[in-house]
Amino acid sequence: MTTKPVTFITGANKGIGNEVARQLAQHDFTVLIGTRNVQRGEAAAETLRAEGFDVHFVPIDINDESSIKDAAETVARQWKQVTVLINNAAVNYDFSPATRPSTLSVDVLKDTFLTNVFGAFATIHHFLPLLKQAGTAQILKPQIINISSTLGSLTSLSDPEHYYYGVNTVAYNSSKSALNAITVALAKDLVEDKISVNSICPGWVKTDMGTDNAPRTVEQGASIIVKLATMENPPTGKFLDDDGEILW
Ligand SMILES: NC(=O)c1ccc[n+]([C@@H]2O[C@H](COP(=O)([O-])OP(=O)(O)OC[C@H]3O[C@@H](n4cnc5c(N)ncnc54)[C@H](OP(=O)(O)O)[C@@H]3O)[C@@H](O)[C@H]2O)c1
Repeated sequence: MTTKPVTFITGANKGIGNEVARQLAQHDFTVLIGTRNVQRGEAAAETLRAEGFDVHFVPIDINDESSIKDAAETVARQWKQVTVLINNAAVNYDFSPATRPSTLSVDVLKDTFLTNVFGAFATIHHFLPLLKQAGTAQILKPQIINISSTLGSLTSLSDPEHYYYGVNTVAYNSSKSALNAITVALAKDLVEDKISVNSICPGWVKTDMGTDNAPRTVEQGASIIVKLATMENPPTGKFLDDDGEILW
């Protein structure tokens, strides 16, 4: 007998995470929306529940390890396991073209890493027992999907011909490079546990972070994440976008 897959998505009250929540709910997942703001999280879950989906809100602030631990305990009590953990929540504090890497304050770098790297890593750390729990009674393999960015690709950023060569935002970019390094290390470590770990780039997407100048819709940004999350035999240790593998 198989059980319904469960996904936990951080930062799913808006943007790409919210659209991934909608699409995975349409794929008959139980969707757990993890957000730091209670009102926004409850409203996001309620909107999808009103459309007939199995969606719930779980409070989590990934800057606060005790909040992450509480969230994992709540999920363990109520849903017992997580099939797909999606590390989506992130911040971007240095996107102004006026912010040069050489003048960036250490605090901006620290604050960015606090969420995009330490927050994502701590979420994996506390949710890993729930992913291990998922392996047995399901068609889908347990997975960790880290939402990264091509801006974390050192190969792309150091190539003068690359579209993103001029986007020299050191805090955000290096935080996504560090997240990619975590993907590579954990993918190798978790092979025997049969847990896949991958980094994804959704492309440049119209959201609060991506701004209205972005060419892609949230539906387009979510599609590669949903495609991976619903694969019966997902790859592991890869950095992927809609076009295939991105060079690290
Ligand atoms: N948009 C793009 O063009 C683009 C391109 C490449 C990669 N990405 C990546 O895609 C992911 C989603 O981005 P997006 O564009 O959808 O961004 P967004 O609309 O700004 O949403 C970011 C989400 O992260 C949440 N968040 C931030 N800090 C948090 C914390 N400490 N604890 C819990 N939640 C927190 C936000 O919550 P609040 O509402 O409470 O602030 C929000 O729900 C990110 O990892 C981003 O780096 C985006």
